[in-house]
This record gives sequence, structure tokens and C-alpha cells, in this order.
Amino acid sequence: MKQAIVIFGSTGNLMFKKLIPALDRLLNQERLDPDARIYCVARRDWTFDDYVEHAKEEVDKQVDWTRLTARMTYIKLDIDCQNDYDQLQDTMAKDGIDDAMVYLAVPPQLFPAIAKGVSQAGIVTKGDEHARIVFEKPFGEDLASAKEINRDLWQYFDESQIYRIDHYLGKEMIQNILIVRFANKIFEDSWNHDTIEDVYIIAKEEEGVMTRGGYYDEIGALKDMLQSHLLQMASLVAMEKPDTYSSEDIKNEKVKVFQDIKIRPKDVILGQYDGYLDAVKVAADSTTETFVFAEASINNDRWKGVPFYFLTGKKLDEKRSEIIVNFKNDNGARSLWPDTYKPKNQLIIKVAPDDGVKFQFNVKEPGLSDNIVPAELDYCHSCHSLENTPEAYEKLLLDLINKNRTLFTRWDEIESTWRIVEQLKEKLDKPHTYSSYAQMKQLISTRFGEDFDDL
Ligand SMILES: NC(=O)c1ccc[n+]([C@@H]2O[C@H](COP(=O)([O-])OP(=O)(O)OC[C@H]3O[C@@H](n4cnc5c(N)ncnc54)[C@H](OP(=O)(O)O)[C@@H]3O)[C@@H](O)[C@H]2O)c1
Repeated sequence: MKQAIVIFGSTGNLMFKKLIPALDRLLNQERLDPDARIYCVARRDWTFDDYVEHAKEEVDKQVDWTRLTARMTYIKLDIDCQNDYDQLQDTMAKDGIDDAMVYLAVPPQLFPAIAKGVSQAGIVTKGDEHARIVFEKPFGEDLASAKEINRDLWQYFDESQIYRIDHYLGKEMIQNILIVRFANKIFEDSWNHDTIEDVYIIAKEEEGVMTRGGYYDEIGALKDMLQSHLLQMASLVAMEKPDTYSSEDIKNEKVKVFQDIKIRPKDVILGQYDGYLDAVKVAADSTTETFVFAEASINNDRWKGVPFYFLTGKKLDEKRSEIIVNFKNDNGARSLWPDTYKPKNQLIIKVAPDDGVKFQFNVKEPGLSDNIVPAELDYCHSCHSLENTPEAYEKLLLDLINKNRTLFTRWDEIESTWRIVEQLKEKLDKPHTYSSYAQMKQLISTRFGEDFDDL
């Protein structure tokens, strides 16, 4: 079969920063067919040479341009013109393509028009197991628009042909969560409200919105981060053991978690960084949040009474994505060492920029005393990789090629996560302006009456 990846939005940031480097690495590892074609689709009236020249300026990773460009074709296409899709299909037919992957790296408002165009042109035909279509996040702007988009998609494609991307799921340590849990009885046996005190899901960024103000101002941190990445991480931490390690069984368990998650509006604090309103394409009076802290509960037997804390934001003190699981104190041990027992058992799954697993436990202080001190087992994931650990998009593109759907989200996951965010809508206070992370942390501590040392 002759493969093709057709990328709409080929002049965008995602194409240049993520997809081209990922395709280059897949070619380097001979994971793409040697004669696979890459159709770069966009609206600009450019020649192939114009496109390549622009791409070379925008791509900031080392890639083999000779190898890449030998496979690439630039296609100018007006997304509202059916004739353009028909011509694209003709080109693909002439090239002998019979395994087509269409990737929509465009804003979600364009999904319906492009879905219709590629369907009517026969580029992706309903029921054709060798044709699939990929949608970037965010899938919709709210529950209503997500449902509308989805209704359209189901008209043109089978669910099995639809791949919805949440690129966090392609990160090595996110894929590792289920292994750390279910392949280690030592953890899984204590993975419940008897032993776990609380869980933190953190995704902090140092950068602001930079050039993406137009997109971000319409979305905000609740929808950009909580609805997708953070809730996806929480579902992997909280889900029950799936019957099998198959995509459908894993998704079935994740959806049950989403249905049990509750966030009360009074347990949410929003922030907006000082200077956000000056960013390009941000409305001068915008109330879009760039920071979210939320306490959630998961209403099932396993997680009764265990708070899940979510924290994400831009312009914070550091770039750090991780999951922290704090275990309960053993009060029995305190009676043995009443003076020095300062218990802390903590498991940290580090996602970015470092990746690995850290476990903190208690040991005797070296020397003559019986003092108890904390110690750490710290595993670095990328240090143990023989080659560079794959970037999320490299893994996701490979899974797309191999029709492995585990790391792509199913419609009911999208629907239930939108519901969680939606029920908060309009019930939240306006964001607090912050000029430092310390300010938001202080606010959280005051509101919740806790220090939150791990944040
Ligand atoms: N960038 C990332 O790292 C990233 C990460 C996760 C998800 N995503 C998602 O991926 C999608 C693309 O993101 P991006 O950062 O690449 O955005 P971007 O830089 O704004 O690029 C958007 C692409 O869509 C095209 N486009 C926009 N409006 C169009 C229209 N009306 N008709 C035809 N083409 C149109 C643009 O063409 P022009 O160049 O001609 O304007 C460009 O090729 C978004 O849904 C985003 O949320 C991006």
C-alpha cells in the first residue's frame, strides 16, 4: 500500500515546530514507507520552492531537508472550494495513494468544512479502513460546539477512522503512568483512599502566550489545559484496572473517572498574568484566565475523601509538569520515634522538562543517632533510553500510521471532560491579576487554609 499524510494548516506553528521534526525522525528511523508522500496543504498562493524556503526559516530543529522535500508536495487549497479537494484527490490517485491519513492542524472552526470536503472528494470515505482523519485539540470551543462538530464528523466518517489528538498522551511518562501503577503491585495495592492523602496534577509554564494570543484569548487555561491535558492525566492516575491493555478497555475506564469527577466553582481560583492584556491579538479588556487552581473530588469507593488538586498557568516561576501522589502518615510509627519522625512518602511522576519517577521514603540518619531523615529513589527515564526519547508527536504519528488508537481520545472522553468544565462556566469569579507565582500561591493558601508545599 502507498501511504500519504495530508496536512491541512501546513503553514502553521504546529507544522513547523512539531510535525516536520517528527516526520523527519520517523523517516530517519525508516518508520514511514520509503515512497510515502507528504502533502502540505495551505491557502497561500505559493510554489513548492516558496513553501520550502519558508519552512526552512521556521523549523528550528535539525532536519534532513533533502530527504524530506523528496517526499513533499505543496498544495494550495481553498477550504470552501470543493473543486480544490477533487484536484487533491486526483493528485493522490495519480501518485497511487491507497493509505491516506488526513491531519487537520487548523483551528477547530474549520473542522466541519474540511471534513466535508475530504469526504465528498473521496479522500477519506466512510468505512474505508485505510483512510483516517486526525483532529487537533481543542475539539470544539465548548460542549455545544464539540457536539456539533462531532455530529458532522459521524455523518462523514466512522468513529474508527477519527483520531482526536491530545499530545500530552504521547509523552513518554504519561504513557508510563499505567505501567508504574499496574505493573507494580507495591503501588497498586496502596492506590486508594486508605493510603493516599492527596494527588496533585501540575502543569506550570514560564512563558506567556507569546504569538498565540489570538487563539488563547478565545480559549483560556480552563479549556486549553484542564479540559484536556490535566483531566487526561487525572484519569490515568485514578482509573480502575482495565480488563485488557486495549484501547477500548482503557478508554472505558477513563470515561468512568470523568463521570465521577466533581469540581465545585467555589474550589476554583483563576488568575491572569500582569501584561497579558498587552499581548498581540488579546482583547484590551479580556477576562480570559491564564492560571487555574482547582480542587476536585472523585466520587467513587477508591477515591472517597482524597482531594485531587489541579494547577496550571502561564508566566509562573518554572516549567514543570508532574503528578504528585502523597501517601498518608503512619501514626503508629510516630509513637516509636516521637521526636524525629517527620513522615513523608511521596511518589512523583515527572512529565516535563525532566521525565522519570521519584519516590521519597524515610531512613535512619547516617551516624550514631536514631534520627529519621527523608531519602529518595530517583529514576531518570530519558537517561536509560539508548536513543533520544521520542517526542510526543513522533509517537502519535507512528500510532496513526499503525492504526493504534490507544493514545487518541474517544468522543465520550471529550464529551465528559467538556461537561466537567462546562458546569463551572459563568459561576467563577473573575481572574486575579498576578505579577508573580508567589502571589497566586499565597491566595490559594489563604483560601484553602493550607501551605501547599508541593506546588
Ligand atoms: N502549535 C502547537 O504547538 C499546538 C499544540 C497543540 C495543539 N495545537 C492545535 O493545532 C491547531 C493549529 O495550531 P497552530 O499553532 O499551528 O496554529 P497557527 O500557527 O495559527 O496555524 C493555523 C493554520 O491554519 C491555517 N488557517 C487558519 N485559518 C484559516 C482559514 N480560514 N482558511 C484556511 N486556512 C486557515 C493557517 O493558514 P495561514 O498560515 O495562511 O494563516 C495555518 O496554516 C490548532 O487547533 C491548535 O490548537 C497546536
